[in-house]
Amino acid sequence: MGTLAPFALKYERRPIKRIAPYSPYRLYRLLTDLEDIVAEFGDDRDRLFRIVPRVRQFLTDAQWLEAFYVPPDPKKGWSVSKLYDEPDYPFTVQLVAWTPGATSPIHNHATWGVVAMLDGSEKNSFWRRTEGDAIEKVGDRLLEPGEAIAFTPDTIHCIEVLGNTPTVSFNLYGKTDYTKRFEFDAVAHTAKRF
Ligand SMILES: [Fe+2]
Repeated sequence: MGTLAPFALKYERRPIKRIAPYSPYRLYRLLTDLEDIVAEFGDDRDRLFRIVPRVRQFLTDAQWLEAFYVPPDPKKGWSVSKLYDEPDYPFTVQLVAWTPGATSPIHNHATWGVVAMLDGSEKNSFWRRTEGDAIEKVGDRLLEPGEAIAFTPDTIHCIEVLGNTPTVSFNLYGKTDYTKRFEFDAVAHTAKRF
């Protein structure tokens, strides 16, 4: 459990059909829905199409995540707080914080992923392979509180924290294939295991 440091949770409750009385879409429901979705759908895009709305719904009811916030480590520039950990549970569920001005290496995740911003703002730059390990930039996207992005396993990106406050995000990943996870060097056109 991390230091209690409130951050703004800006996922607004949307009108959805519920069975009275109201009950939150709890983390354990999200976790079991994830297993069901991944078992039912083999294609990562089909999975993400169903996972992202559930993440958004979960976050409308999850102000309690504040209690799991860990300030970014001053040396590393980031912190990770595991939100669920069970042997053989195949997904990674984290609260991640980055310090202002921090940047990540250019990397892929070799699995599907969803990143939902809770506080701060982050620029995601996207890249694609051209030839061999050479990559070229294909665009970027600013991610602000209340917004979520989804990645397929081959998505190559890097992030940069904008503004003067740490970013806090809810991150969800499938099972990483570490033989296909790389850090890229856009100048030397090389890739190494990450
Ligand atoms: Fe990433």
